Amino acid sequence: MERPDWAPKDVDIEKASAARLYDYFLGGSYNFEVDRALGRQIEQAAPGVPEFAFLNRAYLRRAVRYMLAQGIDQFLDLGSGIPTAGNVHEIAQNTNLDARVVYVDNEPVAVAHADLILEDNPTAVAIEAELQDHVTVLGHDKTRAVLDFSRPIGLLAVAVLHFLPEGVSPYEVLAAYRQALPAGSYFALSHLTRDVGSDQVDQIIRLYAQSQNPITARGKDDIAGMFAGFDLVEPGIVFTPLWHPESPEDVGDHPDRSGAFVGVGRKP
Ligand SMILES: C[S@@+](CC[C@H](N)C(=O)[O-])C[C@H]1O[C@@H](n2cnc3c(N)ncnc32)[C@H](O)[C@@H]1O
Repeated sequence: MERPDWAPKDVDIEKASAARLYDYFLGGSYNFEVDRALGRQIEQAAPGVPEFAFLNRAYLRRAVRYMLAQGIDQFLDLGSGIPTAGNVHEIAQNTNLDARVVYVDNEPVAVAHADLILEDNPTAVAIEAELQDHVTVLGHDKTRAVLDFSRPIGLLAVAVLHFLPEGVSPYEVLAAYRQALPAGSYFALSHLTRDVGSDQVDQIIRLYAQSQNPITARGKDDIAGMFAGFDLVEPGIVFTPLWHPESPEDVGDHPDRSGAFVGVGRKP
């Protein structure tokens, strides 16, 4: 397969990746034919997928705005993805010019593109790392230079924990991050679930197994368990569109069409 000029040398262009599939579903152009081919198969088997992606992105925006309203001005975004419209640093710096953001992703395309758009932005940086490697992420020079761990931080793990490899416990990983956060910090996640009124999520899981990022879907109680040590803010764990919707149209008749549960918690 031909390697486009913009593709980093260490990127695997033979197998689709979650970052590039998500970019494809959102209408971006940082994906390869291998991603588009699998993306088309996924759309055919689960036509709701592009909507899942847009609803998830809208939730990310609402969660960041909520945290900003609570006085949070620095963010650690785990599994941040290929930058697209409405990135965390844009949302945050739109409200607070001094807001600080560390993006973490294990996909070279996501980090290369983030590096490019953050060139002139000294308070937003990107790190290429496995989020489960919390020692590297938390101890990274860039993390230490940008985030002040003596003040509350907004931790984001949006649409990423279902990609953790088998054998990696999201509970243990999150406990390590929680420990590093000062009191008053916030944590937001979204997570794929099978608890929906269709078999679309089963189709997604089946087809993502062909990508570099197989999926583990979880039920509401297991997802709620990821907030151990945080106080969930209202309305708790809900389907994506039900978390602080900005209009009735945001919710629609079938909020479970998002395929994911979301929530935000505060470290007491
Ligand atoms: C579906 S995208 C979500 C992007 C963004 N958080 C959002 O919600 O709009 C998932 C991202 O997580 C990244 N990812 C998956 N597993 C990861 C891991 N173990 N460590 C770091 N990043 C990971 C993928 O490369 C991809 O960019």
